[in-house]
Amino acid sequence: MLYITRKFHFSASHRVYNPALSDEENLKKYGKCSNPNGHGHNYEMDITVAGEVDPEIGYVMDLTELKLLVEKEVINKVDHKNLNMDVDFMKGVLPSTENIAVAIWEQLENKINAPGRRLFSVKVRETINNSVEYKGKNS
Ligand code: NI
Repeated sequence: MLYITRKFHFSASHRVYNPALSDEENLKKYGKCSNPNGHGHNYEMDITVAGEVDPEIGYVMDLTELKLLVEKEVINKVDHKNLNMDVDFMKGVLPSTENIAVAIWEQLENKINAPGRRLFSVKVRETINNSVEYKGKNS
């Protein structure tokens, strides 16, 4: 089994909060992440695909194909957007790094999986110190 990874970047804003709570309660629970008018991050994302080498092309997956797919399905939808309001696949989802990683996985899994290869992980880095890696429901 081989693992290939492509790195992506996007900039987005969000507000991490529970709409059922008051601003004061959200401040207690989520700190400055609950700022009512939001705040931004420069996110980094690693998409890793696991598979066998396709003998015809010598790759697990053409990384240009992966780049175009992830740009279309994810980057173009989230870059310079508000994750609470602007992103179809994040509607109703609290945009913590965990939930962002899971939502991106769900956007990509069926489009990447093919005979001989599968989506292995989605890693989202929100700050230099904080990142989340998701490997699917059963991992
Ligand atoms: Ni944040």
